[in-house]
Amino acid sequence: NEGALWGARFAGGPADALAALSKSTHFDWRLARYDIAGSRAHARVLRAAGLLDDAELEGMLDALGRLEADVVSGAYTASESDEDVHGSLERGLIERAGPALGGKLRAGRSRNDQIATLGRMFLRDHARIIARGVLATVDALVAQAEAHPNAAMPGRTHLQHAQPVLLSHHLLAHAWALLRDVQRLTDWDRRAAVSPYGSGALAGSSLGLDPNAVAAELGFDSAVWNSIDGTASRDVFAEFAWVCAMIGVDLSRISEEVILWATKEFSFVTLHDSYSTGSSIMPQKKNPDVAELARGKSGRLIGDLTGLLATLKGLPLAYNRDLQEDKEPVFDAADTLELLLPAVSGMVATLGFNTARMHELAPLGFALATDVAEWLVRQGVPFRDAHELSGAAVKLAESRGVELWDLTDAEFAGISPALTPEVRTVLSTEGSLASRDAQGGTAPSAVAAQLAALREQAAAA
Ligand code: ARG
Repeated sequence: NEGALWGARFAGGPADALAALSKSTHFDWRLARYDIAGSRAHARVLRAAGLLDDAELEGMLDALGRLEADVVSGAYTASESDEDVHGSLERGLIERAGPALGGKLRAGRSRNDQIATLGRMFLRDHARIIARGVLATVDALVAQAEAHPNAAMPGRTHLQHAQPVLLSHHLLAHAWALLRDVQRLTDWDRRAAVSPYGSGALAGSSLGLDPNAVAAELGFDSAVWNSIDGTASRDVFAEFAWVCAMIGVDLSRISEEVILWATKEFSFVTLHDSYSTGSSIMPQKKNPDVAELARGKSGRLIGDLTGLLATLKGLPLAYNRDLQEDKEPVFDAADTLELLLPAVSGMVATLGFNTARMHELAPLGFALATDVAEWLVRQGVPFRDAHELSGAAVKLAESRGVELWDLTDAEFAGISPALTPEVRTVLSTEGSLASRDAQGGTAPSAVAAQLAALREQAAAA
């Protein structure tokens, strides 16, 4: 078992089947540079504890530097016999520093505290990349909202026409959800910025090593207060996977609308050619594959989260080898979003809106009935009665096959004397929109204020 991290107490090497099962280099190799950064920091605390002298520290850092260069260039890679990234890099270090010096680095650390630390380092870097990608999608939504400040559309509940809203208001609803996802990543980072290094296998180190010095060098805010928690917990991983799944779900909801809006029946949007795909048999097809892949990949992101949670649920403290299964789901979540976000933001940025059609459809389906009821309330009619009167007007219009504004003054008066011709002031999309002017409403003035608030929060995110 040449170069392995363990073996002296065994009569022979592992069975091939165990070695194959145990191996993780094919997915943990991407942590190699974090492992080397951890080794540098660890070498320095060994020096501070008097376990390396100055010359040994210098030799160790030099060998680690050469190892890192070889890892980056691809000159050094995991070998068939390496179990994991940690073992492989120790082999590489010993090849460069010699066994006398290279063999000193492992003192006071375990792969258990290493892997827990490296995972957090990886996820913190990728959380920043993902946050930038989500913010780019927020920006694309904001730009579309700004480009269409006064366009109305049918606002829906139950997918039925409900009340007219501004297109910008609708788009910004998606932007707020995504902005909260960015804020979640920022908030998550406070919990991720705690280093497990120094926890050892589970019980800490007897060698006088300073975990906070390692933490600071690796960019963490502090070190864990409990070595068992440091090595055995993965809630920080699971929370990352949850935020990724939530981002996936938020992108999926945008995508579902794009898919719907791009249908012949809706004809609300035109996809840019560069974000559409064709058919191998039907020459006319222009398909919303970006949106469909976003919708599909949200399922994959949910799977990454649920798979990880299922791995964690039965684990006693402290480290168990099951925890090796923590990496692929979070790596996959990060990879999936980093692939997806540029495509979704590009699709949104290049959408063409058929605002004339959206505007025309906005008040249809009796979408102004609530405006009639609220107008009556402003005339002093109790809302229960106002709701009834407006409903009666809808019933009459529906039976005649016309819209509310097509009813005659006499017909309105026949329903109730309270329904004077003045009611027509709210029987327009513009009137309806303008009246919903409190904070959070769809009036152009309220949406302008909303846009400013969103921009301020996005700039701070
Ligand atoms: N490769 C392992 C992991 O990903 C770390 C190794 C810990 N192995 C052990 N036998 N203690 O979790």
